[in-house]
Amino acid sequence: MTIRGLHDSARKLMDPVFYDYVAGGAGEERVLADNERAFGRYTLLPRVLSGSEARDTAVDLPGARHAAPVIVAPTAFHRLVHPGGERATARAAAAEGVVLVTGTAATTAVLDVVTAAREAAPDPAVWFQLYLHPRREVTTALVRRAEDAGCTALVVTVDSPVFGRRTRDLRNGFTDLPPGYAAENMRDLPGAGPGALTAIPMSPAVRWPDFDEAVRGTSLPVLVKGVLHPADARLAVEHGAAGVIVSNHGGRQCDAVPAAVHCLPAVIDAVAGRVPVLLDGGVRRGSDVAVALALGASAVGVGRPVVWGLAVDGEAGARRVLATLRDEYDHTLALCGGRRNADLTADMVVRNGEAW
Ligand code: FNR
Ligand code: LAC
Repeated sequence: MTIRGLHDSARKLMDPVFYDYVAGGAGEERVLADNERAFGRYTLLPRVLSGSEARDTAVDLPGARHAAPVIVAPTAFHRLVHPGGERATARAAAAEGVVLVTGTAATTAVLDVVTAAREAAPDPAVWFQLYLHPRREVTTALVRRAEDAGCTALVVTVDSPVFGRRTRDLRNGFTDLPPGYAAENMRDLPGAGPGALTAIPMSPAVRWPDFDEAVRGTSLPVLVKGVLHPADARLAVEHGAAGVIVSNHGGRQCDAVPAAVHCLPAVIDAVAGRVPVLLDGGVRRGSDVAVALALGASAVGVGRPVVWGLAVDGEAGARRVLATLRDEYDHTLALCGGRRNADLTADMVVRNGEAW
């Protein structure tokens, strides 16, 4: 069973319009394709006679001690995909010891998501993803909601000053959620409402001072998601970010940016170990996880694969995706002669087959 196989099953089962929303990207979907293809250009140069029967792949992340190195990236509207919705995803992640990022665009309120996670594991890590609202009181209210629910970190997504031009959604006329579904966390906020895709606040007016205010207004660690330029990674750290997530939003925003993994080394250099750097976009195999960790990432996020698992078999399907990636990664670590994530080092990654 591979992630790719699961995708093929999900595609057959899903409503084609929702499938397109999840699978699709912006513009000509160049970046969407590049994210996965880019991993194919990196190969691993294993070390030998240095392994161990007992391997430890856990990692400490903000608000998540001893977590798996694969996290569930925030993806919108899980109830469109499976009736279990975000609750099912939350139980799956918690049971696998994986950080779940839920967010503004969830079709289940954050308190219900955290409650579901706690049913599956005693001390789950749920992070809350948000877009900064140009009206700061909306951001403040949303942050309070996440804090009160028991989230252990915030993720501020910064790659979406405007919504990407999603060609498939435009063709399908998918601009509103169907009746009965809403962005539940946006309910009863000042000047905002649940419902349409447009309920998700995105604004080009949002700038670093808005980020500063959000950091000041919470005791939770705040990660910045959607950084590609090393100068922005440096700024994020200077502005108090507890982590940087290298991401191009799964190719859903600007269709002219590099594959996420190609942006990782420069960001690692810029951050210089001050905070953890994570990556998402195109991770489909355990060896992709190994490449990202060897290049310096602390962990990786997966977006679409979890949705495919959810679509095929709800909680069990999402669990299977996370377990598959964990097992494949552990297997790759063993094949590379490693005992811990830190045993994967940059000299073990070869780009374009040019070993020396
Ligand atoms: C996303 N992503 C996303 N990111 C975010 O910060 N807030 C959000 O609400 C969403 N919503 C969303 C919906 C769907 C259907 C997808 C596919 C993606 C982006 C997501 O967090 C992540 O960056 C990418 O999905 C990673 O790429 P892969 O793993 O899907 O290739
Ligand atoms: C998306 C938004 C919701 O990628 O972030 O669809």
